[in-house]
Amino acid sequence: MSTITAHVEQANEYKSLKDKVVVITGASSGIGRAIAIEMGRQSAKVVINYLGKPDAAEEVVRDIENDHGTALAIEADVSKSDQVQHMISQTVAQLGRVDVLVNNAGIEKESPFLEKPESDFDMVIAVNLKGPFLCTQAAARDMAKRRKGTIINISSVHEDLPFPGYSAYCAAKGGLRMLCRDLALELAPHGVNVINVAPGAINTPINERTLSDPEKKLALKREIPLGRVGEPQEVAKLVCYLASDDASYITGTTIVIDGGLMHQTGSL
Ligand code: BGC
Repeated sequence: MSTITAHVEQANEYKSLKDKVVVITGASSGIGRAIAIEMGRQSAKVVINYLGKPDAAEEVVRDIENDHGTALAIEADVSKSDQVQHMISQTVAQLGRVDVLVNNAGIEKESPFLEKPESDFDMVIAVNLKGPFLCTQAAARDMAKRRKGTIINISSVHEDLPFPGYSAYCAAKGGLRMLCRDLALELAPHGVNVINVAPGAINTPINERTLSDPEKKLALKREIPLGRVGEPQEVAKLVCYLASDDASYITGTTIVIDGGLMHQTGSL
């Protein structure tokens, strides 16, 4: 089999993604970037949402365009309703509609609960929980017009699993778990599916501090039954499947992708 044939076969894995308009928040790095690139490969039209890093976002756009895809970078703070509204109207104006929204933008801040600054709590909840609320509302209003759409929230194993030092992050992800379940019911009559993806430890900038310290990295790997951290592309492939028509009967649930971490009783 020639390399060209192999490439084409890989590119068309999910044929129903061709020409779908996919908005991905926080797509200039980490898991969001990997999802954007994979969606581009699947011939979707991709909106790269970013905040404050135009060069990184433009680089993702270029990577997709160099692979013959269509992509557009739009800046918006997902915690601000006017900016979210602008991002969705820009998408509709330039690409016609929103078929898939991936709520990926997220931050985490570590500190013991007794010392956690109120501002850290507010910021983590604003980006990780209010962001998906606002983006879903704006996108689902467009999806409801065609009675078809998919919302995918990049949650975390910590929507369920406690994580000492990360109380705000856990509260936001726990909230996202319920938001997914509630919105799946509210949006089902409008033809919109809502699904959470819960990654464990993935090789991204959010984990850089742990992964660049050999001792911490080893301790983390010991917690993971598969014995390694995941790659962003592994999460991206799952998201592409969930966004495709092949996954049309999945809604209101969480798909965990964590190498078995959730089932390990360790120090987490
Ligand atoms: C967090 C990471 C953590 C992983 C597993 C993710 O949600 O962002 O910091 O390593 O969960 O605990």
